[in-house]
Amino acid sequence: MAPSRPLMRGIRPPRVFPTRAGRASPYAIALTALLLVSAFLLALLAFGVFSLPVSAPSAATTNAAGGETESADARPSRPRARRDLGVGLGDRGAQWTEVISWEPRAFVYHNFLSKEECDYLIGLAKPHMVKSTVVDSTTGKSKDSRVRTSSGMFLQRGRDKVIRAIEKRIADYTFIPVEHGEGLQVLHYEVGQKYEPHFDYFLDEFNTKNGGQRMATLLMYLSDVEEGGETIFPDANVNSSSLPWYNELSECARRGLSVKPKMGDALLFYSMKPDATLDPLSLHGGCPVIKGNKWSSTKWMHIHEYKA
Ligand SMILES: *[C@@H]1O[C@H](CO)[C@@H](O)[C@H](O)[C@H]1NC(C)=O
Repeated sequence: MAPSRPLMRGIRPPRVFPTRAGRASPYAIALTALLLVSAFLLALLAFGVFSLPVSAPSAATTNAAGGETESADARPSRPRARRDLGVGLGDRGAQWTEVISWEPRAFVYHNFLSKEECDYLIGLAKPHMVKSTVVDSTTGKSKDSRVRTSSGMFLQRGRDKVIRAIEKRIADYTFIPVEHGEGLQVLHYEVGQKYEPHFDYFLDEFNTKNGGQRMATLLMYLSDVEEGGETIFPDANVNSSSLPWYNELSECARRGLSVKPKMGDALLFYSMKPDATLDPLSLHGGCPVIKGNKWSSTKWMHIHEYKA
């Protein structure tokens, strides 16, 4: 029987790198190692295990509530997060999200708008303010009211670049598409003006024809208010007297969970519970302005597309 050695030699794989001594040279080993390391790094990049710091060393990350979490030291020179590329006005500073209540579900997005964006919205609305109305629950039509004494106006959805940027941002933070939102409403409250506690959801057929029920509201504060003008949730399941800002609140605002207006901050709350039933704890109102002026802007969001 012939020895098997010659056959084995015949199927030996061909050498990639020709060598003098029949063994891999240090050069070939180094090159192979380099190739393997490159392939490994490329694989890590491809699977997103790490990323190259291209131009966003402090790129914003998104937390569960949809807000951006950034370190406070990231200031004007910081590159913008990808979602903000080329949109919006001015610098918004550091953003963080605060959960203020789970019953109702309510969150404050700090520095949601820049000062420039607040001024822009006020500037657009100011020449067109009219006395606010409320919806008549029997006819579904607008009517004058003593419970709501502010003035306001609607800004057409997507009417310009800045509005589109803000509406995109609202959709990004709330996970509710831009198409589900009504046009932004800008409101102005002078000293003594208020909005008595009410629900944002509808109990009539007429107002739910377009887009179905209102599920959430984003209320943006466009100005600081020296005194009063807080947004209050009188029935919230929160021990409000234990909150750190309780002592800064007006008398009216101490009757429940309240948010003090601060320029650029936004208050998101849901009028519906996660099981899609209406949430009566979402009852809310605007306390009377005691000193100063209150400007705010509201985005109502529906469960279906809202034809604007
Ligand atoms: C609410 O908080 C205040 C202040 O921390 C405390 O004195 C009070 O007992 C609390 N009330 C309830 C019902 O827990």
